[in-house]
Amino acid sequence: MQTLLESALDVALGELGGASKSDRNTFDLRFRRSFADLYAPLQVLYGHLPEFEAVMLALARRLAAAWANRGDALKLNDLRRDLEPDWFLRPDMVGYVFYLDRFNADLKGVLDKLDYLEDLGVTYVHFMPCLMPRPGDSDGGYSVMDYRQIDPRFGTMADMETVTAALRERGISVCIDLVLNHTAKEHEWAKKARAGDRKHQAFYWMFDDRTQPDIYERSLLEIFPEHAPGNFTWYEDAQKWVWTTFNEHQWDLNWSNPEVMLEIIDIMLFLANQGVEAVRLDAVAFMWKRPGTQCQNEPEVHQILHALRAASRIAAPALIHKEEAIVSPKQLIPYLGVGEHTGKEGNLAYHNSLMVQFWSALATRSTSLMTRVMGTHFPSRFVNATWGTYLRCHDDIGWAITDEDAGALGMDGSRHRSFLADFYEGHFPGSFARGGAFQSNPATGDRRTNGSCASLCGLETALEAGDANAVSNAIQRILMGHALIASFGGVPLLYMGDELGMTNDQSYLADPHLSHDSRWMHRPKMDWERAQHRHDQTTVEGQIYSGISRILARRKATLQLHADNPTEILDAGIDGVFAFRRVSPTGNLVGLFNFTENWLPVSRAWVAANGVAEFWDHLSEAKVETPGDVVALPPYARAWMS
Ligand code: GLC
Ligand code: GLC
Repeated sequence: MQTLLESALDVALGELGGASKSDRNTFDLRFRRSFADLYAPLQVLYGHLPEFEAVMLALARRLAAAWANRGDALKLNDLRRDLEPDWFLRPDMVGYVFYLDRFNADLKGVLDKLDYLEDLGVTYVHFMPCLMPRPGDSDGGYSVMDYRQIDPRFGTMADMETVTAALRERGISVCIDLVLNHTAKEHEWAKKARAGDRKHQAFYWMFDDRTQPDIYERSLLEIFPEHAPGNFTWYEDAQKWVWTTFNEHQWDLNWSNPEVMLEIIDIMLFLANQGVEAVRLDAVAFMWKRPGTQCQNEPEVHQILHALRAASRIAAPALIHKEEAIVSPKQLIPYLGVGEHTGKEGNLAYHNSLMVQFWSALATRSTSLMTRVMGTHFPSRFVNATWGTYLRCHDDIGWAITDEDAGALGMDGSRHRSFLADFYEGHFPGSFARGGAFQSNPATGDRRTNGSCASLCGLETALEAGDANAVSNAIQRILMGHALIASFGGVPLLYMGDELGMTNDQSYLADPHLSHDSRWMHRPKMDWERAQHRHDQTTVEGQIYSGISRILARRKATLQLHADNPTEILDAGIDGVFAFRRVSPTGNLVGLFNFTENWLPVSRAWVAANGVAEFWDHLSEAKVETPGDVVALPPYARAWMS
């Protein structure tokens, strides 16, 4: 490895001929720092290929070229992040996620809303897919035909640079999607492959007949069984079956081909050089295929992600990686780095278990399953990585609760999952929620759920019924949930409109490109009219907005919430209350959350035994009185006590 390091560095420094001495030195240091992290995974993936060494040299050249193209402001930012590597772990991090056109028309439109974002406390924005999508239905932009161009509806790459710079000035980092598992079938690689070009056919999974597809299909799952059944598509003109896990127009990339790795690294660094500070690596679980498996979460996926991270550490160290893997706890944890990948894989990953458990506990008014799942499956912290915590995102909710976890509490997994789907569709008697079913699969009994945070929390039905008490309960559920994701450990990711209690939007049904995909139900356009009332406490939106912005402000002021402080799940001894302790050198913080519409008592002595001395609630900024030796939690209460 040492000789390869030296020859790769030679090639790289050759590429940096025109750079200043200090730039060359910096590159040299960073290359040496991370070379082993690049080499080790690539050796596992491609070491058996005769061209392995040539691949490493080509990669070194590309890394150097990317660094040479990086602007001074971004190089300064690299240095800042190298000096403060915990920047995204701090309690002042707050994320906000939106579609550019649905927020304020386009990229530049964001600049007119900086005050809004700042007022809410946002320090990180995720622009939903914004690279050039295929025409027509593009799976919400996840079917990309050109990674180096912005969707013309939103602006240009030059606008992207302007906007990221303006946001950086305000202390807001920009995250964009980088779809790793597939490209649109209109991408130039795919077009060449389809026209018969061998080199580009090797970028995808293409088969002459059903032999291989049939073997794989035996163990594969279906992601969109209703509108995109099967995992392979036949193209008459090319006389090929093509691997299409998601939609027909999304062609899976073949990551066992090192050319794909080189191209994607190039693209990733190109985007980082436009000022992007986080990439959301989409659908990463699916990147490696192995017959006889579901072709999800294969060990090679983690090698790929490890290598991508090392590439960023060398040529764009300010860039962090967020990995989207909506999988079970056991399979999820490795995305934040375990074993050989510790501290070296994703910086962020969605905590989809926390999200699912939140909704499950809210429906059942029981926290025992949540306490078990959160308490037994997850480590209390990660190295150089943390969760993205969220209640809702642009996707459906998959009821990912295992039979084993349900069984441990005497419940039947499949009945509980179907109860949750019924409850959140609003069919279950007494349900407060309103949502929609997504991708019912009669073969597996699986059924997922759509709906906005507010509608699933009961706001839509309560407003329709004109029931003030139900409206108040819905608001309290929304606030309790946000207090949970703001303190659990990780970066809270707010989904646009949730801060105003925006309900389901059925207008997608009138759009022929969207109507087949009911996830659009919870992707409404921002209601700026409603946002005007955000400081008016007599309105529903005012109560939700002020509640959420206050939670976020209190998060920033509460140092115990730094993501490096371990999160230990506690059993508060009373069902309906979820509890954890953030272990901090300056004293513990105990978080208590009442998932019911009843008052619930928690023992004072128990709270004290968890390291709480003053009974000071950082959220309400008041001392909690404990008459009768109990902490009495009102309906849907949340408290952060130290
Ligand atoms: C991701 C996205 C989802 C999309 C899928 C395919 O999981 O979140 O919206 O459908 O990938 O790209
Ligand atoms: C599945 C996939 C996830 C994708 C989603 C789309 O949950 O695992 O990656 O975003 O489907 O709805």
